Amino acid sequence: MYKLIDGKEVSAFIKNQVREEVEALKKQGKTVSLAVIIVGNNPASRVYVNNKKKACEATGIKSYEYALDENTSEQELLALIKELNENSEINGILCQLPLPKHIDEKKVIDAIAAEKDVDCFRAENVGKMWLGDYDFAACTPKGVMLLLEYYGIDVCGKNCVIIGRSNIVGKPMASLLIEKSATVTVCHSKTKNLSEFTRNAEVIIAAVGRPRFITADMVSDGAVVIDVGINRDENGKLCGDVDFESVKEKASYITPVPGGCGPMTIAVLMRNTLVAYHIANGK
Ligand code: GUN
Repeated sequence: MYKLIDGKEVSAFIKNQVREEVEALKKQGKTVSLAVIIVGNNPASRVYVNNKKKACEATGIKSYEYALDENTSEQELLALIKELNENSEINGILCQLPLPKHIDEKKVIDAIAAEKDVDCFRAENVGKMWLGDYDFAACTPKGVMLLLEYYGIDVCGKNCVIIGRSNIVGKPMASLLIEKSATVTVCHSKTKNLSEFTRNAEVIIAAVGRPRFITADMVSDGAVVIDVGINRDENGKLCGDVDFESVKEKASYITPVPGGCGPMTIAVLMRNTLVAYHIANGK
């Protein structure tokens, strides 16, 4: 019998911790703030940005939205980021990805001041995470770690298999699992005989971006299955990278989609914004 990992419950718990701290600061006349930049009309990005703004409201973090036209030039976007970097009223800056094709994402990521980089996308923040001495952790992987911790799942010495090697999920996920002494394998689209890896995994973290890609035959009995994917299936229905209905019968713990990792990413973003406030104010 599997146990459902409830990302809504855990994210509410984390956001409540943030809210208590933000409220205590408010009583001293201090404000924690996040600037959210969105360029263009990507519908998924709009949903994510709205959810981030809602989480700001729930935690008492002041949010500033900068919704820029699809045709905004790279130069204009960089100028806005420079202004926000220099504005001491802004603690965290987030630029929703993907950006329109004419804008160089790397340039934009590098333009955000390291101490305001609440996504943990900049090279120095990624490097600090790998060295285990960091302020910001990448939102989605840190969200996964908090889910595991909340349910008392200790990864120390466990065989953990990540499927996906993106800069946002797969790579930082490996870093955080190694930090907790897991034995980590990172698989990806070029991995041969993927099932041989996943069948030996005690913890599977799916970040593939393909609807219901992980099927029951790929999972061993009692595995912990974490689904980071958010996809639309052929009927337009929201689903993860894991075939939940079949895999749940084998898993000991499993995350649903929606309501698993998604809300955790945003809860960690709120935590990181509070961290950015403390960096700006001498910790
Ligand atoms: N696009 C998809 N995920 C993310 C994220 O975590 N942060 C930002 N800025 N853009 C994204």
